[in-house]
Amino acid sequence: MTRDLNQHANALIEHIQTRYHEGHRRALPELLTLAAAIEAQGIDKGLVDALGAIGRDLEQHMFKEEMRLFPMMEQGGNTLIERLIDDLHREHVAHEQGMDCFQARVRELAQAHRTNGALQALAQAVEVFAGELIRHIRAEDDELFPLFCAPVPTAGIAP
Ligand SMILES: [Fe+2]
Ligand SMILES: [Fe+2]
Repeated sequence: MTRDLNQHANALIEHIQTRYHEGHRRALPELLTLAAAIEAQGIDKGLVDALGAIGRDLEQHMFKEEMRLFPMMEQGGNTLIERLIDDLHREHVAHEQGMDCFQARVRELAQAHRTNGALQALAQAVEVFAGELIRHIRAEDDELFPLFCAPVPTAGIAP
C-alpha cells in the first residue's frame, strides 16, 4: 500500500469512527428511552427488546472493527484482512435487514397512532438513525474495504 493510500484509509477510518461509531453510540440510548416510553403506554411490548438486539449486534461489530480491523488497516493490511472484511460485510447485510424490519414496524405504528407524540418522535429518530447506518455501511463497503481487497475477477467475460 502506498503512503497516499494509507493516509486516505486513515482519514476514512477517523471519519467513520467520529461520525458513525460515536454517533450511533450517542443516538441509541435516546432511541431506547423513546421505545421504553411507548411500551409504557402499552402500545408495543417488543420495541425495547428489538432495538436492544440491534444495538448489541452493532456494538459488537463496531468493537471488532475498532479492535481488529482498523488497527490492521492502519498498519497497511495483512493476509488475514480479506477474510475479516468478508465477515464484516456479511454483518452489514444483516444489520441493514434488521434495521429495515424495525423501521417498517415503527412506521406502521406511527401511522396507526398519528397523535402520539412519543411515537412520532421515535419514528423520526429511527429515520435519522437508519440513514446514518446506511451511510456508515456504504462508507465501509464502497470506500474503505475496497482499498484492502483485490478486485473480484469478472467471470465469463471475454477480454
Ligand atoms: Fe463501522
Ligand atoms: Fe461495519
